[in-house]
Amino acid sequence: MATIYIVMGVSGVGKTTLGKAIAQKMNIPFYDADDFHPQANIDKMASGIPLQDEDRWPWLDRIVNQYDQWQTKGAVLACSALKESYRDRLKVDQLQVKTIYLSANFESIQQRLAARKNHFFNPDLLQSQFDTLEAPTSGIICDASLQKDRLLQYIMNTITAQNTSQLGLIGLGVMGKSLSRNFANNHISMSLFNRHVSGVEEDVAVNFVTSYPELTNSKGFDDIEAFVKSLSLPRKIFLMVNAGPAVDTVITSLEPYLSEGDIIMDGGNSHYVDTQRRVEVLKEKGIHFLGVGVSGGEEGALKGPSIMPGGTAEAYEHVGPFLEAIAARDAHGNACCAHVGSGGSGHFVKMIHNGIEYAEMQLIAEAYDILRNHCSLSLEQIAQTFDTWNEGAENSYLLEISAKIVRKTENGQPLIDVILDKAKQKGTGSWSTTAALQIGVPFDTIAQSVLARIISSEKAQRVKGQSLYAIDRAEIHELDIATIREAYQTARIINHAIGFETLRKASSEYEWDLHLSEIARIWTNGCIIRSTLMEQIISVLHGFDDNILFHESVIPEMTKGQAALKKVVQDSVGAGAAIPVFCASLSYFNAMIQGDSSANMIQAQRDFFGAHTYERKDKEGSFHTHWE
Ligand code: 6PG
Repeated sequence: MATIYIVMGVSGVGKTTLGKAIAQKMNIPFYDADDFHPQANIDKMASGIPLQDEDRWPWLDRIVNQYDQWQTKGAVLACSALKESYRDRLKVDQLQVKTIYLSANFESIQQRLAARKNHFFNPDLLQSQFDTLEAPTSGIICDASLQKDRLLQYIMNTITAQNTSQLGLIGLGVMGKSLSRNFANNHISMSLFNRHVSGVEEDVAVNFVTSYPELTNSKGFDDIEAFVKSLSLPRKIFLMVNAGPAVDTVITSLEPYLSEGDIIMDGGNSHYVDTQRRVEVLKEKGIHFLGVGVSGGEEGALKGPSIMPGGTAEAYEHVGPFLEAIAARDAHGNACCAHVGSGGSGHFVKMIHNGIEYAEMQLIAEAYDILRNHCSLSLEQIAQTFDTWNEGAENSYLLEISAKIVRKTENGQPLIDVILDKAKQKGTGSWSTTAALQIGVPFDTIAQSVLARIISSEKAQRVKGQSLYAIDRAEIHELDIATIREAYQTARIINHAIGFETLRKASSEYEWDLHLSEIARIWTNGCIIRSTLMEQIISVLHGFDDNILFHESVIPEMTKGQAALKKVVQDSVGAGAAIPVFCASLSYFNAMIQGDSSANMIQAQRDFFGAHTYERKDKEGSFHTHWE
């Protein structure tokens, strides 16, 4: 619906000048209401006779009669419209009519009119104008004494803010919907877009905005151009579409309507290399692209996720306040959202978050396996064990939900026992493994957690293997729960050390200047790997640029914990348990504390069969030996 902006106020207040400037800015026609006065009114005013209401009705009606011609683009109309009843007369159903009231005092206008030439208005009539004026209390109200450019800027900003949404979001899947509601709950005006797929996704955005009271001020679209045009500048558009080609498709559909300086944020689990590419390509076009890691699942998205935005600091300046408004809060009430670095760093950080998540999940699964299948604990005993651990340093969101999972029944039966033991994955775990290996990080725990999911998916093979070998898993009598608990926590510390080492090395490799302590902080709430350990890691990493395992506060804990870890690994593996992440954490630790490794043998073998040369401990240089 087109809009008629009525710039109103007493004569001499500057309606015409400002109205023309507004019309020019908005690229819509300007009209001066004085041009529609019947001749009788013009004559009256020229002879200094004040107009009465009965003089004004025909004038206002003549203006309204023009609306048919104005309704395509809308218009700006400079009109005194001094009384409420006059303004009401100018309102119609088929057009939006908005007032911009230029407020001023008598003396300043008197001075202006005295200085004016060639105008039919008699300055002596000014008093009658002020007497007639019923100042509006709604619409845009501004001080006419402001310098013209400032006034224009103020009016344009206000019009823009009233007409456009602060933020756009594309993709109303589960996460997109929850994030939209979270933004709206934080008083951020939203334009929401969902594609139209006949018979499958129809009017999704329009129906969604009418379904929740908090979305009253949000607008729903399935037309991309109208969606983009509904956003205030620079446009800020949050993508919540599936990672992969869908992101490029949406970007391509947006591009024709974007302007320089606009900002696209990808809130999906995109691969950081894709993000890096999109950052570069869009930079050429003057568009900012931020890869925004979002963690916390559906509930986190609605109530407060952990947010990891990466991209230019300039773009973050614009979007930071919105993202921080919806983010979870840390223990000090600060937002679990911070600009993590440039380029694809946001999605890299999220990918490593997911890697840590994979190994954390697998460690709990392995502890559950040991407790249930080798220590003969009932499900309730396991739930109680997890509850107890959760009261201590081992507390984590994942452990909390795992206690609930083992207690869950369906028709009186434990639900866990009917869930098929084939773990799915969407890719971030294996991406993180590949990425870590590319920059030379031993990714033991996380890589093993990915492999564990892959082996789990080989259900038929595993069943066949069991029938072929028919080996029972043995009871471990000499293992107590306190030892398992200590081993679990020790393995977790190692897993976190590996995750943060990856970030440390990536930061230097890709020049991202990641602040690891700050990343730990934004992972203390809202995200899947929030935990007491993460809280502790904030201070461990503060001003410390090395492996977490080498921090003075961690050394005593590891020195003590390694014994428990060794015992659990030895006993459980010996009893037939498959506990790859417990094993991997111990292998990593053992390897990282061996000044002398077995790699001299590898080097010798390489040189033996391939003349690859080796370095020596006793002298500098590169050496080759004729081995036979
Ligand atoms: C999060 C989760 C979230 C999602 C993973 C699951 O931080 O909120 O990590 O991103 O649960 O994508 O990944 P898999 O399907 O690979 O387990």
